[in-house]
Amino acid sequence: MFLGAPGSGKGTQASVISQRLGIAHIATGDLFRDAVSKGDELGREAKTYMDKGLLVPDEITIRMLLERIAAADCREGYILDGFPRTLEQARTLERALAEKGEVVDRVLYFKVSTEELVRRLSGRLICRNCQTPYHPITSPPKVAGRCDQCGGELYQRSDDSPETARKRLEVYFAETAALIDYYKEAGKLVEINGEKGIEEVGQEVLDAFTNG
Ligand code: AP5
Ligand code: MG
Repeated sequence: MFLGAPGSGKGTQASVISQRLGIAHIATGDLFRDAVSKGDELGREAKTYMDKGLLVPDEITIRMLLERIAAADCREGYILDGFPRTLEQARTLERALAEKGEVVDRVLYFKVSTEELVRRLSGRLICRNCQTPYHPITSPPKVAGRCDQCGGELYQRSDDSPETARKRLEVYFAETAALIDYYKEAGKLVEINGEKGIEEVGQEVLDAFTNG
């Protein structure tokens, strides 16, 4: 499980490590953005919250996530990026896993200062097709405006506007940061220094997967 504020590097690291280890990368934000681009009912409902920088209600988010982790590509394990974000989500996930005799192995918490988060979010571009994140300074694509992974078009997320990004950070500290202590007490938390460069952070992430 990857836990951390908006812009802390969860998506960047999850996309690298999931390819390297051949396990699924499940990001609730990416699932919602897919639904928004399809224009279905889930997408229309989620958009009203995402545009304001608010969390999508637990009931909707949990239902979508439990459906996704039941898919065949999750049988060998998976990385959760951006879920859970509330205690209710964490507890419901635990109950659902327990029914299958499964547990959360480890929680990687990406620690990054607020100034750095704001800097990263304001420059981010993501792929319209596979949602890989880029940054013009720290991780530019090889060809301007195109994704290195799939050639898709890069665009700026509408919730990365300064106002909405600020709201998302506020919501993170009010509703999600409590999960740090929750998983620390459960003995599952591994703190990652997310402030360093992408490759150095990647090495710490890999160590957390391979040690123990
Ligand atoms: P979501 O898409 O999950 O957004 P988020 O949590 O706000 O996280 P981000 O994707 O913004 O940050 P990240 O940590 O992935 O950073 P990234 O790797 O891109 O959620 C969006 C919305 O969906 C929510 O607001 C909510 O409405 C809804 N939602 C989703 N999940 C939900 C849930 N469980 N419950 C309820 N609602 C939910 O990196 C950021 C930038 O920094 C990039 O440009 C990258 O290139 C750059 N960068 C990354 N690492 C480094 C580094 N080490 N050094 C320098 N630059 C770096
Ligand atoms: Mg992300």
